[in-house]
Amino acid sequence: AARSEDDLRSPICCILGHVDVGKTLLLDKIRQTNVQAGEAGGITQQIGATYFPAEAIVKKTASLSDKGKMNIKVPGLLIIDTPGHESFTNLRSRGSSLCDIAILVVDIMHGLEPQTLESLRLLRDRKASFIVALNKVDRMYGWLPRPNGPFRASLKVQPQATQDEFAMRVARTITEFAEQGLNAELYYNNKKDVRKVVSLVPVSAVTGEGIPDLLGLLVGLTQKHMTNSLMYLSELACTVLEVKAIEGLGMTIDVVLSNGVLHEGDRIVLCGLDGAIVTTVRALLTPQPMRELRIKSAYVHHKSIKAAMGIKICAPDLEKAIAGSRLLVVGPDDDEESLMEEVMSDIATLHKMVKKSPRGVWVQASTLGSLEALLEFLSVSKVPVFDISIGPVHKKDVTRASTMLEKAPDMAVMLCFDVKVEKEAQDLADEVGVKIFKADIIYHLFDAYQAHAASIVE
Ligand code: GTP
Ligand code: MG
Ligand code: NA
Repeated sequence: AARSEDDLRSPICCILGHVDVGKTLLLDKIRQTNVQAGEAGGITQQIGATYFPAEAIVKKTASLSDKGKMNIKVPGLLIIDTPGHESFTNLRSRGSSLCDIAILVVDIMHGLEPQTLESLRLLRDRKASFIVALNKVDRMYGWLPRPNGPFRASLKVQPQATQDEFAMRVARTITEFAEQGLNAELYYNNKKDVRKVVSLVPVSAVTGEGIPDLLGLLVGLTQKHMTNSLMYLSELACTVLEVKAIEGLGMTIDVVLSNGVLHEGDRIVLCGLDGAIVTTVRALLTPQPMRELRIKSAYVHHKSIKAAMGIKICAPDLEKAIAGSRLLVVGPDDDEESLMEEVMSDIATLHKMVKKSPRGVWVQASTLGSLEALLEFLSVSKVPVFDISIGPVHKKDVTRASTMLEKAPDMAVMLCFDVKVEKEAQDLADEVGVKIFKADIIYHLFDAYQAHAASIVE
């Protein structure tokens, strides 16, 4: 396939950081959307994806210089939002494994926090280039906002005490990075190789200050250092993020296409609850540019789509698709059977990962990703797991979970994350005495289980 500097694919940028540092709000500010306000408990529990075309980035960086527009060679930028809550290590890991570059968001008032350090480890393991957004500068005492402008223009007009506080907080952050063995500098003082010295970009997701600086640096970084890895490659790389029923479209999957091209009519292979699914792409949809894939919107139809992009795929037989699965395309020389085996090896790994205990709780979640997260959380909390399932809770799940009534009644519990419980399933559970806990925030499940276990011991 063609490989040329004039045919770059869009890079993928992953946003990582500790819970509530402002990752989603930062994206909202750039997109002019309100995704964060709609999240349960204000926390992100899924991977998101938003495409920013080059023209939009040019516009948003215009205020940086009076010398003229930035010259952007990549077609655009796909930005992946990840959860910062400690339970979602797996989604951070998945997000970071998709990315070419990353923005590590740090709350300037808090400095480096546990999931900041975890994210740093993920990025170092992948040898990924990243920049740091030092967010929430508007929270410093006496801050005078200059909405959406370049950061240095804002800093200049701050009262002396605020400038002093800023200098103190930056110095502290630099020390904390040094403790992790990393050199860091404010980006405008960083004259060295940005891959060797971490650039700190002060921003505010509330006032928009510093966002031109952040985008400018990001694009500059990709173009300077990544042209080679962004040259268009034909080999397809695609991951399923979510499986969702959409009114008027039926069951759909949200995917991130990180390399190659997808076409309407492609034959695709992915993991399913009852084995590999082989089906044909009926429609390739994307949200409008600068709209979040995980939010329902007026979709745009495409005949084919080039990486990188967040895509909604409509196809028959997706009911049992599993999020987190890889998606493969059957090429002219490919053996469908071997692709089916290849894709299902991923889920076998998950089943091996769960240490199933003869006495333990039942765990059920909407996606492979959230199931992994829940299992990780339970493992750390030392709650034994009897068995797992993905998708809505049916009668047969309750029947299987009810075997615990004899063995360990306090564990005759089903922890259900983000799944529907069928009415007959709930009726059966009530009848036999299996306790079903449902929640849309992972750690609330654990709290409910603990309260229940304590009440039984009494
Ligand atoms: P998770 O995805 O749950 O890890 O959180 P997040 O990093 O996406 O943070 P989120 O966007 O949910 O913001 C968390 C809280 O911080 C919200 O109440 C925001 O309003 C607030 N916040 C985010 N950025 C800023 C900022 O720049 N300034 C101020 N003052 N508040 C902010
Ligand atoms: Mg978020
Ligand atoms: Na949050």
